[in-house]
Amino acid sequence: KKPVYILGIESSCDDTSASVICDGKVLSNVVANQEVHSKYGGVVPELASRAHQQNIVPVVQQAIENANITKKDLSAIAFTRGPGLMGSLLVGTSFAKSLALGLEIPLIDVNHMQAHILAHFINDGENKTPPFPFICLTISGGHTQIVKISNYFEMEILGETIDDAVGEAFDKSAKILGLPYPGGPLIDKHAKLGNPKAFPFTKPKVGDLDFSFSGLKTGILYFIQKQQRINPNFIEENLDDICASIQYTIVEILMEKLKNSVKKTGIKHIAIAGGVSANSEIRTRLQLAEKHFGWTTYIPKFEYTTDNAAMIAITGYLKFLNEDYSDVSVTAKARLKV
Ligand code: KG4
Ligand code: ZN
Repeated sequence: KKPVYILGIESSCDDTSASVICDGKVLSNVVANQEVHSKYGGVVPELASRAHQQNIVPVVQQAIENANITKKDLSAIAFTRGPGLMGSLLVGTSFAKSLALGLEIPLIDVNHMQAHILAHFINDGENKTPPFPFICLTISGGHTQIVKISNYFEMEILGETIDDAVGEAFDKSAKILGLPYPGGPLIDKHAKLGNPKAFPFTKPKVGDLDFSFSGLKTGILYFIQKQQRINPNFIEENLDDICASIQYTIVEILMEKLKNSVKKTGIKHIAIAGGVSANSEIRTRLQLAEKHFGWTTYIPKFEYTTDNAAMIAITGYLKFLNEDYSDVSVTAKARLKV
């Protein structure tokens, strides 16, 4: 049997990424982060699109080179169709289309949120893959969802955020503290040195599997403003404790919702996915849940948590096996359901 080589291309937000996988095994996964946004405190869509245009050719070339193959070996090209920023998605979409046309190989469109989840099916020899059905908590800069996965492409959203995504909660809290974008990893870093019970923040009240983070953000803002009026050095003097307390509150919310979803569905195979699943506290708490609640948990490797093209390629591979190809008339879609 001929090996199947899939090139994956991801450009939905602020990372340009390309990856080659062979029969489900990752041969290369190149990610170009965009530094331009850090000083703006968030992703600037116009700058993101322009940076993708500059990065896409070298990133794809590097991915093919690192995989030790040539373009002619490729079996198909998978790309992120959505959801994401339109100007960013268009760069990857048009590039993937023209490359597939030029090489006369199938083009496969991929849903970015499905891909975050299906990253669990990357075969790297050591990882365990979840059995169907399983629950996935997908937590990123743009989404917060509890999804029931009955088969590779049979997904049902059981709950989601009614306002901000959890990544936004991290990033906006970080901004309040004067930390650069994206602040999630920095909160994680400072939290390691702080006391998670130092400052209690109020948890939101929402439906059993839904989320809300905008109230928490406002609560943090008012708390910090008040403390700064009393002591202008409050942030500097307490940064580690503040970060630990914010992270603790957010992870408590996430764990509570996961417990609710297990109660509701009876499913005890629990996965996490998306950029925020890189967070060390959620990873630890999930591992502990194996012992405490008898769950089997699935935690992705770091490189497959934040946006990457390996997850696009593996999703493309699973579609390729079903000959689920796209027509060249396919267009990018900013809003796309799981
Ligand atoms: O999945 P992702 O790379 O992009 C989207 O599709 O949104 O997620 C990015 C988000 C950002 O909000 C970032 O702050 C957050 O993931 N993030 C983290 C950590 N690493 C990344 N949040 C908390 N702790 C981390 N270690
Ligand atoms: Zn993402």
